[in-house]
This record gives sequence, structure tokens and C-alpha cells, in this order.
Amino acid sequence: MSILITGGAGYIGSHTCVELLNAGKDLVILDDFSNSNKEVLDNIKKITNKDFKFYEMNYLDKDKLEKIFEENKIDSVINFAGFKAVGESTEKPIEYYINNVSGALNLLDVMKKHNVKKFVFSSSATVYGNPEIIPITEDCKVGGTTNPYGTSKLFIEKILEDLYASDNTWDIAILRYFNPVGAHESGLIGENPKGIPNNLMPFIAKVATKELKELSIFGDDYDTKDGTGVRDYIHVVDLAKGHLLALDKLDKEKSGLYIYNLGTGHGYSVLEMVKTYSQVNGVDIPYKIVNRRPGDIAQCYSNPDKANKELGFKATKSLEDMCRDSYNFIKNK
Ligand code: WQD
Repeated sequence: MSILITGGAGYIGSHTCVELLNAGKDLVILDDFSNSNKEVLDNIKKITNKDFKFYEMNYLDKDKLEKIFEENKIDSVINFAGFKAVGESTEKPIEYYINNVSGALNLLDVMKKHNVKKFVFSSSATVYGNPEIIPITEDCKVGGTTNPYGTSKLFIEKILEDLYASDNTWDIAILRYFNPVGAHESGLIGENPKGIPNNLMPFIAKVATKELKELSIFGDDYDTKDGTGVRDYIHVVDLAKGHLLALDKLDKEKSGLYIYNLGTGHGYSVLEMVKTYSQVNGVDIPYKIVNRRPGDIAQCYSNPDKANKELGFKATKSLEDMCRDSYNFIKNK
């Protein structure tokens, strides 16, 4: 029996494939390489010394999706596929809703037809909007998302709730990621977005390698420890391991709908990240303070107790590990 990984050549998908292969799972990976490339697949094989089936396709193509389920014995699906740039989503809402929401609906429809009901969804803390309570627990209010990317995640969570309410034989885990950063210790896979990065860590990485001149820090007048934005950065390998634990939970429970925050429970500021990155790697990170970025919030970090209690999930890697592994990956690019 195989696990279908949509978007398996992407940043979080590729790291999760490594952990699943190392755990002896059989994988079928699909990806359209819209935000990744074939080299990532070669590196997954190099790291794990394991093989897997791969389909180059977009999950909007229902006929090709059907073919995967006809040609393979799929018993569960992890859905990473989707566009994920917050800023870009405000310029291209239709593309984001088609790719993220219609793609997920396509996938669920084909799964239903083939009676495959074990589903792990890659969601995001962004569904909490501007959180009322910090640290955030899973029963905090969702909504008030400030961009189509976050709203697409919220829509898919609602679709999954309606699906489970209609048929409680589904077995669903919704994983709300906080801020995934870092790279596999091998330096072979990591985060290397095309163009100018939207997110903090890949931007810092490109300043560290002098590909970009300096970091713009979006505001230092927030009500936080040093005025800059505070986030719950989690090492991508810790996050990947959380998916294995979520699959184990679904295997054990046989049905249900489970929602988990995957974070460390610690908040670090932009300035703390810059200082740590510079110290750990012995690199200079020039920066300037500029105006706030529209849509940004002051603080966002998790209360990870539920995932810890129900999945046995615990992030183990430090901010230093995140910065060291990020630079170890980018410096060879
Ligand atoms: C972090 C902090 C910025 C860039 C988003 C999505 C979330 C997830 C991660 C996909 C903030 C500051 C950033 C820069 C800066 N996406 N910053 N200069 O906005 O918390 O979360 O990305 O999985 O769903 O919502 O992440 O890395 O963009 O920002 O000062 O050039 O760094 O203001 O305080 P964010 P981020």
C-alpha cells in the first residue's frame, strides 16, 4: 500500500518524503515543478537511498489523478500541493483559489471514488488571522484571514469539516504549520524560492550569500520584545516528522477529523533571527528598518500541547539549528 504525496518535490513535501521513506513507507509522488525541480527528487533518493514512483502532473488534471489511483494501491494521501506566497496571492486570487481549492476538491473527489479516506492536509497558522490569544491553541477562533493564500487554506479546512460531517468514515488530519524554516542536515534539500523571497529566512539566506544586498525589516514599532515581528519558527525536519506521527494517529483511529498546531511554542523576533543567523554562520546580515508590511501581525506563536499529548509531537531543533542548516543548504547553491 502506498502514500500519495501531492507537491512532494516542494520544500515541506520533500523533507516529509525523506522522513517517510526512512520510516520504510512506499510513496507515490506527484508534482508539476511549478515551484520546484527534478533535482529535488534525485536528492531525496540520494539522502534515503530509496526509490519511489513519480508523476509529473498538476492535480487539477482529474484524468491523470484517476490514473494514479488505478495504477497504484493508494491507502492515504498527504496534500502539500498549492501556491503559498502571501503577497502573490493578493495579486492573483483566482489562480490561488483554482490551484489550492479546486485542486484539493479534485483530489478529494477522486479519493472518494476509490474509497481512499485517509487524508493529511497541509494547513497554516494563517487561518487564525490576527489571533485573539497568544500562544494559539487549536480551539482559537479562525477567520479574518488577510490574503487569498490564507483564505484558501481556511476554505479547504471548512470543506474537510463538511466532508467529515457527511461521512464519518473519513480519517482526516489538518496540520496548521507555523513558520517552517531551515533545511535537511545534508544540505541537499532546502528552501530555495524562485525570485525575491517573500519570507524572512530565505531572504536572510540570500543576504548571507550576498545574492541580495540587505534585509528590509518591516517595522520595529510593534508591541513586542524589541519592536520587530515575533513568529514561531519551526525546523522543517521537525515539521516533517510531525506528518509521520499524524499518519500513525490516523492508522490507529481508523476515522475522525483531527486538527493540530505544528509549532515549537516559542516566539522569536526578526532581530533575534538576524542576530542568530549572523552569529551561528559567521556572516554579516546588513539590514535597514522600513515601514510595516500591510497585513502583518505583531505576534504569532503556538501552544503545541495538543499535538504533544495526542501525537507525541515535539519540536527538538533550536533556532541555531534552523539558521545553521539554512546556510549550509544555500551556500552551496
Ligand atoms: C516573518 C516575519 C515579517 C520578510 C507567512 C504565511 C505563513 C507561511 C509563512 C507558508 C514578519 C518579517 C519578513 C522580510 C521582514 N507561509 N519580515 N522582512 O508572514 O509570518 O507567514 O509565511 O507556509 O502561512 O502567512 O512569514 O517570513 O513572511 O515573515 O521583516 O523581508 O519577518 O514582517 O514579522 P509570515 P514571513
